[in-house]
Amino acid sequence: MKVFVTREIPTPGLDLLRKEFTVSVNPYDRVLSKEELMKSVQGKDGLLCLLTDQVDRDVIYAEPKLKMIASYAVGYDNIDVSAATERGIPVSNTPGVLTETTAELAWALLFSVARRIVEGDSFTRTGQFKGWAPLLMLGQDVTNKTLGIIGAGRIGTAFALKSKGFDMNVIYTDEQRNEQLERELGAKKVPLPKLLKESDFVSIHVPLMKATHHLIGEKELRVMKKTAILINTARGPIINEKALVKALTEHWIFGAGLDVYEHEPKIPEELKKLDNVILQPHTGSGTIETRTKMALMAAENLIEGLKGNIPPNCINKEVFLKKTTE
Ligand SMILES: NC(=O)c1ccc[n+]([C@@H]2O[C@H](COP(=O)([O-])OP(=O)(O)OC[C@H]3O[C@@H](n4cnc5c(N)ncnc54)[C@H](O)[C@@H]3O)[C@@H](O)[C@H]2O)c1
Repeated sequence: MKVFVTREIPTPGLDLLRKEFTVSVNPYDRVLSKEELMKSVQGKDGLLCLLTDQVDRDVIYAEPKLKMIASYAVGYDNIDVSAATERGIPVSNTPGVLTETTAELAWALLFSVARRIVEGDSFTRTGQFKGWAPLLMLGQDVTNKTLGIIGAGRIGTAFALKSKGFDMNVIYTDEQRNEQLERELGAKKVPLPKLLKESDFVSIHVPLMKATHHLIGEKELRVMKKTAILINTARGPIINEKALVKALTEHWIFGAGLDVYEHEPKIPEELKKLDNVILQPHTGSGTIETRTKMALMAAENLIEGLKGNIPPNCINKEVFLKKTTE
């Protein structure tokens, strides 16, 4: 069978695939256009794609032989899963292996914004540091503060648990109760407006979907404390970026740490000019160990799916239900 991989991924994943299939990989170090992607899936049985690929209905219907789509990410807002299900194509993701790594990046951003690390580094490098000063570059304490988690799933939970050393008051908002956080941290489930009003740090960990698109806009930002910090390592469009620029420019909040953007990779010029925001190039899962695990997981899913088995991390298991009832 033939598979197409939309971008070079860590070698162990490709090696695993090459043992089973004829593998072609996007030869360019860039995202393929829709036309290129549609052309590349032609004649292929399997597709290994990334979050930067828009795997829409046209791509899914581009090749009648296509039998399996394995994504190299946990979020799958870039894939038209219902079109894949309609065609009987299983889709898989890579949950769990990137949980701790992404939670670690959220903490790195939180501390960097709270203690103005990036600003301080550039201030020091450019010779502006003339000695200790009582009012120089003051930030925000973390210990004993209130931590608000929006979306206490895998990553939200790991992020919250890492607050143990800082004795924080943890509150969260989610569609479901998180008994682990309540038991281990005494965390409380609260509605979003209360979370925004009471938190010193707000970290977003919900998936991007209709219900979470622009979950944080002007109204929500205005509710937050002037000293609050907003962290987003989930997906860009969860925050209305225009409203965030306004909030940061007018100091409605202290700062923000962003790994993701509304129109990625485009970032508004106004946002780039601000000192009270730290901008990271979508590297939430970006460690050598984790990206290798993701590559292996995506490859294993593709192999199982093409063997006709239920891939271990199948998002649309109903495809198999449909197959057995047919
Ligand atoms: N920056 C990165 O590189 C990076 C890396 C990994 C994951 N992510 C993003 O993080 C997201 C979360 O990953 P995860 O593995 O923790 O997913 P998850 O499914 O384990 O957790 C998501 C949580 O959000 C909750 N939720 C869903 N809709 C909600 C709503 N409307 N209001 C409140 N809560 C809601 C769910 O109940 C669940 O508990 C992914 O979907 C992905 O987009 C980003």
